[in-house]
Amino acid sequence: MTTTVRRSVLRGSGSALPERCVTNAEMTTMVDTTDEWIVERTGIRARHIAGEGETTGSLATLAARRALDAAGIDASSIDCIILATATPDQTFPATATIVQNNLGCRGGIAFDVAAVCSGFLYALTTADALLRGGNARRALVIGAETFSRILDWDDRTTCVLFGDGAGAVVLEAVDVDPADPAAPGIIASRLHADGAYNELLYVDGGPSTTQTVGKLRMKGREVFRHAVVNLASVLEEVLAEAGLTSAQIDWVVPHQANLRILDATARKLSLPPEKVVVTVDHHANTSAASVPLAYDEAVRDGRIKPGDLVMFEAMGGGFTWGAALARV
Ligand code: UT7
Repeated sequence: MTTTVRRSVLRGSGSALPERCVTNAEMTTMVDTTDEWIVERTGIRARHIAGEGETTGSLATLAARRALDAAGIDASSIDCIILATATPDQTFPATATIVQNNLGCRGGIAFDVAAVCSGFLYALTTADALLRGGNARRALVIGAETFSRILDWDDRTTCVLFGDGAGAVVLEAVDVDPADPAAPGIIASRLHADGAYNELLYVDGGPSTTQTVGKLRMKGREVFRHAVVNLASVLEEVLAEAGLTSAQIDWVVPHQANLRILDATARKLSLPPEKVVVTVDHHANTSAASVPLAYDEAVRDGRIKPGDLVMFEAMGGGFTWGAALARV
């Protein structure tokens, strides 16, 4: 008799970007910078910026609808929505409940996760635990941000780096044979946080301190150093947990903060750069949205195919960082 295990299988993905695209050339008209500096230091060439009426909740809803369409799953059967964001529509209630209401699926679990750029990894791992534990059967995991609204547009060291957007995946609990190497679903994941690094990447406001929303502040060079070390280490952890090697990975879908971080992390794991999905050039850093945005793009353009082994990874404010390995 085969003993099965419950896994969370990725059934479909979707994404949404604000209409307005701002190139580096346009950025030079707003702040003292150059296209050369931005491209050389980050790989970013353009980003999408939310306009009036475009919010984290509206982008998340659009991404969720597209993920449900791709999965061929009706919103009414979704019993869990976890939305990762650092830029919610309201301080409370959770933007996940706004999405839930927009989709018309009432009564299930719905909450936000605040882990900044690692938010999608935190949301994915939490949803996976809820599905495997039997608390839900079909989950929407969303990363959605409108970072343009917490940027200091007079600070050229940060405002050129970020963009807005949303990505979503539908997860479904499925019983699989763990001995089958082709069995789909999330195989392993690991999350970490170290609150000692708050002052390297934070927002200088909040309801309980200043009663304002605040602006993003970052000591980029220090964050960069930690990102490369932490990401390489959590990727090794997840591979060890899965009993697999980096050579078996078909695609890495990383958080898109900086092309140089993606290259350095790939090098540390001896992964060829062709296996890394890169969207930072046209999305910039969309925080919690960047991983599902990149995943959706690579699924829709045919790079990521059913059966591929995909590593997701991210690092951000907190510090927080994490990785998850799934056969899709
Ligand atoms: O998503 C969460 C995680 N975030 C990250 O992973 C971000 C990690 N950090 C980075 O990506 C990079 O550190 C940055 C892209 C933020 C900065 O690159 P860097 O090579 O570390 O540059 P730097 O901050 O050390 O700045 C170098 C120079 C400075 O001038 P001086 O002091 O050397 O004369 C800056 O004033 O570049 C200057 N500079 C700019 N020049 C033109 C900073 N921002 C700009 C700008 N345009 N926008």
